[in-house]
Amino acid sequence: MSEREHKVSRRQFLSYTLTGVGGFMAAGMLMPMVRFALDPALKAGAESSMEAVCELDDLTDTPQRFTWSFSQQDSWYESTVEQEAYIYLDGDDVIALSSVCTHLGCTIAYNEDESEFACPCHGGRFTEDGTNVPGTPPRRPLDVFEVSVENGTVYLGEVNRRD
Ligand code: FES
Repeated sequence: MSEREHKVSRRQFLSYTLTGVGGFMAAGMLMPMVRFALDPALKAGAESSMEAVCELDDLTDTPQRFTWSFSQQDSWYESTVEQEAYIYLDGDDVIALSSVCTHLGCTIAYNEDESEFACPCHGGRFTEDGTNVPGTPPRRPLDVFEVSVENGTVYLGEVNRRD
């Protein structure tokens, strides 16, 4: 091989060097930005968490209102979620009803004298077990929380629809 075949011109040398250095610099700047943008999506999905709400000894067969709050991370946004439920005992089972009316989402209240829930917005009514009263606006029963009891403490999780 002749020396001439391996010779790199000054222009080529500068072009290769600048392209390489420029590429490293661009990658160095872009990688953190890409990582930041994708970070929430790369994390494992939010697991269903159970929150301690009350003690089993607090409960009776009459629905009682309990409230609790927890922080929630939704991608880049962290917020505090306020929740409430009407919890009662059905034999040995713990039932936790959502207080959100299934008509248009107003907050219901329990009327102990009538033994039923009433919605202040459009006159919706639900029986003590959360069943919608026929002839009133709600077309389905109140949603129920996932419930677990451990060491005498009642934990509530996700709200589930029942039809
Ligand atoms: S929102 Fe409850 S009856 Fe309409």
